[in-house]
Amino acid sequence: MAKTAFLGLGVMGFHMAGHLAAKGHQVTVWNRSEAKRGDWAAQHKGEVAKSPADAAFGAEFVFLCLGDDPDVRDVFDQLEPSLGAGMIVVDHTTASAGLARELDERCRVKGARFLDAPISGGEAGAINGKLTIMCGGEEKAFKSAEPVMAAYGKSMTLIGESGAGQLAKSVNQICIAGIVQGLSEGLHFAEQAGLDAEKVIAAISGGAAQSWQMDNRWKTMVEGQFEHGFAVDWMRKDLRIALEAARENGASLPLTATVDQYYADVQAMGGQRWDTSSLIARLTRD
Ligand SMILES: NC(=O)c1ccc[n+]([C@@H]2O[C@H](COP(=O)([O-])OP(=O)(O)OC[C@H]3O[C@@H](n4cnc5c(N)ncnc54)[C@H](OP(=O)(O)O)[C@@H]3O)[C@@H](O)[C@H]2O)c1
Repeated sequence: MAKTAFLGLGVMGFHMAGHLAAKGHQVTVWNRSEAKRGDWAAQHKGEVAKSPADAAFGAEFVFLCLGDDPDVRDVFDQLEPSLGAGMIVVDHTTASAGLARELDERCRVKGARFLDAPISGGEAGAINGKLTIMCGGEEKAFKSAEPVMAAYGKSMTLIGESGAGQLAKSVNQICIAGIVQGLSEGLHFAEQAGLDAEKVIAAISGGAAQSWQMDNRWKTMVEGQFEHGFAVDWMRKDLRIALEAARENGASLPLTATVDQYYADVQAMGGQRWDTSSLIARLTRD
């Protein structure tokens, strides 16, 4: 069993830290807002720290699950004095590959190692402990962290060197953007054509048009229900990261750039916290 620290008890981190504790790992948590620290301690077995440095001090593994690049850099700055030789810092935030490389360097200076390890699977995946984890970093550090991450991960893959996990997560988000827009247009077309959407989905969902989004989202999309799932604000952050990386590596992402602007429309409609499947809402608005 490992001595771990978990920093960031949001929608995802709260459950991930809980799985670590449930598997018998020693867990010290920290969250910026105090209320979540108390909520976590009331439901799980573990310690609560007053600062990132206190949480990380003496830990073998320090897990982060925060929002965006500036948040990760801010918390890393605070925990840095506690970094020690042999420690492994694992960042589950969806952030940029550039930040991962910077933090990898800063860890090495202290004899520690850094893994960028963004996740997918949504809140349900965090609750069920079945997340997909895409990692970048050194193989030895990955092999050490893998059995610990298994507390909440069902599939963990070392993609390549530092930053590769974040770049793989961008691939995931690029694919999702196009699929959700396609599904939105298909369902919108079905409605305009006077078709029964349920019959259409039953007919086509076993074929080449099938997708996770189709299986899990078609019904709520048709019903106009978006108060669940993965927020548009987070998706825009992820697409910004993907588009910035594409500017650096020369990839051409015309559809991703277009869908990003469609999400800006959804935000302007008040859908900042709506699920990403709300792309259909801008096709059906009056
Ligand atoms: N939700 C999903 O379905 C999902 C799926 C895949 C990947 N992700 C990614 O996973 C990450 C976490 O997502 P989430 O849904 O758990 O987000 P969330 O519920 O908004 O939680 C964000 C966490 O980060 C903390 N935080 C943000 N800025 C901070 C700062 N400057 N200093 C210290 N703490 C800070 C927040 O603390 P406070 O409580 O104090 O605000 C909170 O604990 C994001 O990068 C997201 O893109 C999310």
